[in-house]
Amino acid sequence: MKPPRKLHIKSYGCQMNVYDAQRMVDTLAGEGFVETASVDDADLVILNTCHIREKASEKVYSELGRLRVVKDDAARQGREMKIAVAGCVAQAEGEEIIRRAPTVDVVVGPQSYHHLPQLLARAQAHGRALETEFPVEDKFGFLAPPKPAAIRARGISSFVTVQEGCDKFCTFCVVPYTRGAEVSRPVGKIIDDVMRLADNGVREITLIGQNVNAYHGEGPDGRTWPLGRLLHRLAEIPGIVRLRYSTSHPRDVDDSLIEAHRDLASLMPFVHLPVQSGSDRVLAAMNRRHTARDYHEVIDRFRAARQDIAFSSDFIVGFPGETEEEFSATLALVMQIGYAGAYSFKYSPRPGTPAADMRETVSAAEMDERLVRLQDLIDSQQSAFNKAMIGKTVDVLFERAARNPGQIVGRTAWLQPAHVMASPDIIGQVLPVTIESLERYSLLGELAPAAAPPAPSSLSQMTTGA
Ligand code: 5AD
Ligand code: SF4
Repeated sequence: MKPPRKLHIKSYGCQMNVYDAQRMVDTLAGEGFVETASVDDADLVILNTCHIREKASEKVYSELGRLRVVKDDAARQGREMKIAVAGCVAQAEGEEIIRRAPTVDVVVGPQSYHHLPQLLARAQAHGRALETEFPVEDKFGFLAPPKPAAIRARGISSFVTVQEGCDKFCTFCVVPYTRGAEVSRPVGKIIDDVMRLADNGVREITLIGQNVNAYHGEGPDGRTWPLGRLLHRLAEIPGIVRLRYSTSHPRDVDDSLIEAHRDLASLMPFVHLPVQSGSDRVLAAMNRRHTARDYHEVIDRFRAARQDIAFSSDFIVGFPGETEEEFSATLALVMQIGYAGAYSFKYSPRPGTPAADMRETVSAAEMDERLVRLQDLIDSQQSAFNKAMIGKTVDVLFERAARNPGQIVGRTAWLQPAHVMASPDIIGQVLPVTIESLERYSLLGELAPAAAPPAPSSLSQMTTGA
C-alpha cells in the first residue's frame, strides 16, 4: 500500500473558511491524504485565505515567500511539495497569484473545492492549475451524491452550510465579489446532512452562510422556505439539542425567524447581528440599507420573542469620512443595546469595492484611538455579561475533556466556555451547571444537584431532546 500523502492547511478568516478547510480535508482524504500539523513534512500545503480585512493579499504573498523556502528545501531532499492557494484571495486574485508567485501549483476558488483532486492532477501534468469560476448550477455539488465521507462528524458541534454568497453589496465588502451571488441549498439536502451528523453523535448544529438569514431554499413541498421554517424542521431531528445560525443581516430578519426564537427551545438565544455603525450617514454610505433605528427595532422584536436573548455584532471604525460625532453615535448604540461581545475592525479599503474609491479618509491615529474606545466599551459589556452568570444555574452542552485533568468543558447557550470536574461520560449531554467563578473568558462551576451524580445507565443518553 502507498503511504498516505500529508496535507497541511493553514486557514485564515471566518468560520466559513474553517468549514471549507474541513471540506478540503474530506475531499482529499478520498485521494489518500492525511492531515499533518507541520508544514515541513507536508506533500501538499493549502493556504486557505481570507480577503475581508487588512492587507490580505500582501500577507498571502509574504507567506508564499516563506513557503517557497520550505518547498525548495524539500526538493533538495528529493521530496516534492505542492502549494495551493484557496479561499477568497484566490478567488479575487487568481491570475495575479499565478503570475506573481511561481511557487504556487494550484489556485482554487471557494466554489471549486470538490475539484481539488482533478486540479492537483492537472498541475502534475501541466505544471499549474487555476479554477475560480462561479458555476451557475451545482454550486454545492460536492455534497451530492451524498458520500458518507463528505460530511464527517467531528465532535459534538458541527457547522452546516445552508447558503453561500451575498447580494447586499455593502460598499466596504468583498464578499459579493469573491463568493458570488446568494445561493441557498435545498431543504432536503440540509435535512440529510443534519440527520447524518446526528447519527454520528453531533448534538449542536450551526447553520452558516455569509448572509444566512437571506436563506430561501427549496422545500420538499416545492415552495421556498425561509430560515425560520428550516429551523423549525431541523429542531424535529432526534439527537439535535441545539441550533444556531450565523451570520445575519438586520434587513433580512423576518417573522419566521422571530417565531423560531419564540417557539424553539433548541434554538439558542444568542444572535450575531452585525450593525457596523451607529450613524445613519455612515450606514447609508456603507449601503447597509438600514438605519440605527431599524436595527433597534429588530433587536426589540428578538427580545420580545425570547427574553434571555443576547447579541453580538461587528463594527467598523474609520469608514471614509466618519466624523467624531458619527463615531459617538456608534458608542451610543453599543451603550443602548448592551452586547455580550462584539468584533470591531479598523476600516481597510478592499480593491474593487465602492468604498475604496471614497476620498475622505480618517487618519490612522484617529482610527486607532476610536478602535480602543469602542473595544474598551465592548469589553466592559462582555465582562459584565459573563460576571452576571456567577451564582446562576445554566444549561451547558459538554463537548470534550479540558486541558486540566478531570475537567470537562462545554458551552452555555451564549457560547461561553464552562468547565466542571466530572466524568467524560457527560460529553454530548446538556446538563445544568451552577456557575461559581469566572477565569478570564471561561466559567467554572459544578454540575447542579439534579444532574450530579447522574446514574451510570443514563450517562450516555441526552437529557434534552428535540
Ligand atoms: N474593512 C474593515 N472591516 C471589514 N469587514 C468587512 N470588510 C471590511 C473592510 N473592508 C468586517 C465587517 C464584517 C466582518 C466580517 O468584517 O465588520 O461584518
Ligand atoms: Fe459583506 Fe455582510 Fe454586507 Fe454581504 S451583508 S456585503 S457579506 S458585510
